[in-house]
Amino acid sequence: MPGPEVAHVHRRVELAKRESRNRHPGGVLWFTGLSGAGKSTLAFALEECLFNDGYQVYVLDGDNLRGGLSSDLRFTHIDRTENIRRAGQVAALFANAGLICIAAFISPYRSDRATAATNAKRFHEIYIRADLPTCERRDPKGLYKLARAGEIKNFTAIDDVYEEPEHPAFVVDTTELTIEQSLASLTGFVAKHFPLRRDG
Ligand code: ADX
Repeated sequence: MPGPEVAHVHRRVELAKRESRNRHPGGVLWFTGLSGAGKSTLAFALEECLFNDGYQVYVLDGDNLRGGLSSDLRFTHIDRTENIRRAGQVAALFANAGLICIAAFISPYRSDRATAATNAKRFHEIYIRADLPTCERRDPKGLYKLARAGEIKNFTAIDDVYEEPEHPAFVVDTTELTIEQSLASLTGFVAKHFPLRRDG
């Protein structure tokens, strides 16, 4: 918490004005799930789809954030918690700027996700679900192989935990659905929760 020397400054362009111009509410779609479950693939596909439809939308992706804002962090419990704290704050800033922020992070700990959820007015936890054998078979970056060989430590679902969401707002099971089907279910969710005003 800031000390008494730091005061909150009020802005003159309020969220309602931004949302009115954008023609949709701002908010956070928080994608959680194992590495290889399809979070980034679906996040970027959904971003493109929504953008083409007229939404103001931006993806915050774990791999990308770890190349910049979180480049000082690794994969210990404390570092992941700090990574998700930062990601949650940044996602909320985007939402408060009137955008839909799609945040794609493993975010393995329930309490970290719960904290992130308190930052933004509209926050939806979306579980991008795929079981470990499927993710391991996909192994798009070859990291599961390295983790099994002991060359990467604290790898999620191998030698670190993943706490499944207990009450996610939405589940996309990528072991059962194709990318196109997953995307269609996600756009349906967005249309319901972030309706785009088409008049005017
Ligand atoms: S989180 O746990 O802090 O939410 P984040 O989503 O930012 O993780 O980053 C996950 C990505 O980092 C994975 O997709 C993978 O490419 C890479 N990675 C490297 N080491 C690990 C590890 N030990 N556990 C999980 N992912 C790792």
